[in-house]
Amino acid sequence: MFNSLTMRRSAAALLLALLTPLACGQDIAFTQTQADAGKALYKETCQICHGSTMVNGQFGTPLRGSFFQDKWKGKSVGELLTFVYEKMPPDKLMSLTVAEYTGAVAYILSRNDIAVSDTAMGTNKEALNKTMLPW
Ligand code: HEC
Repeated sequence: MFNSLTMRRSAAALLLALLTPLACGQDIAFTQTQADAGKALYKETCQICHGSTMVNGQFGTPLRGSFFQDKWKGKSVGELLTFVYEKMPPDKLMSLTVAEYTGAVAYILSRNDIAVSDTAMGTNKEALNKTMLPW
């Protein structure tokens, strides 16, 4: 039987379940400046394969939306940055600076609806490995 108290209790439990993953680890942080730098870099270096909208690439997989988010579910920002750093662009591996790769990741995250903040994304690998993607 559902009465209003059980309804309220299950609503509260549901809310808690939804909020819990966000409460774990550290919050994702990157600045508008980093995302803007990443955007410029993306156009120059990544768009040719991943496409102008990040989902219309002819040679690269989607970098936003459910395909991308399902693939990176449960992983950290550090893992994403490491992947991009070691594997992208495939024809010019590790051709960019760490700051440039960080900007590219910040831009990808912003295109996946993660808000910019006043705190920059750092380069401390341990901290980034504890910063979980929110999907
Ligand atoms: C020459 C084409 C090419 C270029 C240039 C390129 N990529 Fe990729 N990218 C790929 C391919 C192919 C894959 C899929 C590889 C895989 O899953 O192992 C991929 C995968 C990725 C992924 C993982 C996506 C997923 O589905 O897990 C990210 C993130 C990424 N690229 C970012 C970038 C960034 C940032 C740049 C620019 C600095 C870039 N790529 C440039 C071809 C490219």
